Amino acid sequence: MFEIKYLGYFKFFYYLTQIKGVSHKELLTPKLILLFSTFPNQLFILLLPKTTVSMSHIIAPSILAADFANLEKEIEMINNSEADWFHIDVMDGVFVPNISFGMPVISAISKHARKKMDVHLMIVDPDRFISDFKKAGADILTVHYEACKHLHRTIQAIKAEGMQAGVSLNPHTPVAVLEDVINDLDLVLIMSVNPGFGGQSFIENTYKKISQLKDLIKRSGSKAIIEIDGGVNDKNIKKLIEAGANALVAGSFVFKSQNPKETIKKLKQVM
Ligand code: DX5
Ligand code: ZN
Repeated sequence: MFEIKYLGYFKFFYYLTQIKGVSHKELLTPKLILLFSTFPNQLFILLLPKTTVSMSHIIAPSILAADFANLEKEIEMINNSEADWFHIDVMDGVFVPNISFGMPVISAISKHARKKMDVHLMIVDPDRFISDFKKAGADILTVHYEACKHLHRTIQAIKAEGMQAGVSLNPHTPVAVLEDVINDLDLVLIMSVNPGFGGQSFIENTYKKISQLKDLIKRSGSKAIIEIDGGVNDKNIKKLIEAGANALVAGSFVFKSQNPKETIKKLKQVM
């Protein structure tokens, strides 16, 4: 397996680019190429600090909790932080009892964002807007299982637009409903609160759902990654990752903290 065989090199590459801030261009110097070719892969695994193992999970701050009057500043903070994605929550006031923002705001965010745009649709009949979200800058488009009549068709339409496809499950929706589409998915988003609002308390049943989903993914040979959304903080993140979560959305915990950039860093280093 590529990941296991070259884990040391990958870890070293991650250490230089993400922790030390070396640019990809700088990496291609003869000195570094010599270093890579001289030392065995395994040496890097032994020598590098434990925190670099945190490359295995993704942190996606939720813009919903940002200061909308200073959106450009908030976007720059995420650009300059260790966060991996922008999590963008779209609410229509029908599927969920709240309205957030739509295409013009997403396009504006995307103009400044230098990281992946992870767009979470909490809207009925999302098929109507798939190409609009692509145009607005979405890289990953996640729809709710509960909001789609023909989920398989919706997933194919997202992929046909060149985006990664995700499906989200409400806290009451069992993982088993994804059995027949799991191989078509890039991502499954487990809601760990009822969708609609930031700042709610985490639902403990989520851990059980993560392990059920992990089993399903393994059994079916799917490449889908597991994302958790709602009430994520420094108290539950480690347990979530241990249960099998790959990507963690954090809204209030990041943006309402004293130093959001530092908070993101801590969430990245949690393992
Ligand atoms: C809830 C949204 C979440 C929300 C998370 O419906 O999907 O992404 O912003 O916010 P916190 O982290 O505050 O629970
Ligand atoms: Zn969300």
